[in-house]
Amino acid sequence: MKNELNKVKRKALEELTSIAEPLELELWRKRYLGRKGLLTLLFKRLAEVPKGEKPTIGKLANKVKEDLTREFQTVANSLAARKAEEEKVLDITLPGRRPPRGHLHPITRTNGEICAIFSRLGFGVVEGPEVELDYYNFEALNMPKDHPARDMQDTFYVSDNVVLRTHTSPMQIRVMERQSTPVSIVAPGKVYRPDSDISHTPMFHQIEGLLVDKGVSFGDLKGTLTTFVHLMFGRDTKLRFRPGFFPFTEPSAEVDIQCVICKGEGCRTCSYTGWLEILGSGMVDPEVFKIVGYDPEEISGFAFGVGVERIAMLKSGLDDIRLFFENDIRFLKQF
Ligand code: DAH
Repeated sequence: MKNELNKVKRKALEELTSIAEPLELELWRKRYLGRKGLLTLLFKRLAEVPKGEKPTIGKLANKVKEDLTREFQTVANSLAARKAEEEKVLDITLPGRRPPRGHLHPITRTNGEICAIFSRLGFGVVEGPEVELDYYNFEALNMPKDHPARDMQDTFYVSDNVVLRTHTSPMQIRVMERQSTPVSIVAPGKVYRPDSDISHTPMFHQIEGLLVDKGVSFGDLKGTLTTFVHLMFGRDTKLRFRPGFFPFTEPSAEVDIQCVICKGEGCRTCSYTGWLEILGSGMVDPEVFKIVGYDPEEISGFAFGVGVERIAMLKSGLDDIRLFFENDIRFLKQF
């Protein structure tokens, strides 16, 4: 009897460990603790036990029943808990979860906005290489090897004659080399310089513009860039053309807009001048036309170069350019 009780207990507990469903558990309960269960049957046979052994066997039988009942309850509880958990996870009445939705990077967007404005004005959009020949980046833009203007754009050299382009201006040459006049293009893209601080990153974006035809004047340059500023920053944005110098334009002009932060009063962003520089421009130097085989007696043109980050910062009131490239989702989400 004693052996049988222990055997039933061992078997019951062993089976219990592999039970994973409420239905299996119920069958198990019936098999051991039910009215015709194995343990119940042993209880019925207690009467047969000789008198002297009754107290010990009876005690053992009760202990086995207690143990099995307790273990049964433990498993029943954990199955119930699992079911509740599953029901929580699988609540089909809950609304669906939207997958997170991304959007264009603020620089990509600003780039698109600028190109769209020039498209409206009749400019085509072209792209060119970021790894550029020294010839296109400097030489053909009237910056021979020993020209001091190269210092400002000393750059990453891939080899003696190959550089990471320091501006998008080489696209002027590439376009004029392969087509005849009239030309009206903008060329967006990445450019590289060895600067890194709050207002410079080693990689940034520019958009080059070039218009060449018979009789293009400085008035056309002013009209085009004024229209651009008005469409980009609003009709009442004041702008000014300030004399500048670039080796590939003559005369050259830098364009400032009235500070978008202080409206010209003077603040930290505009270094208390009330003005912010947004682009370089000028009438294409006759030397450049000669290099690409255009006749400067017959045609003329203007060119400009806009910094995309600069425009994006002014539009959003940002004062640290590096934020654009840290890939911090919390920052990018705000655009
Ligand atoms: N390439 C110049 C720069 O990166 C910007 C520039 C100035 C472009 C005058 C032009 C221009 O086309 O006419 O500093």
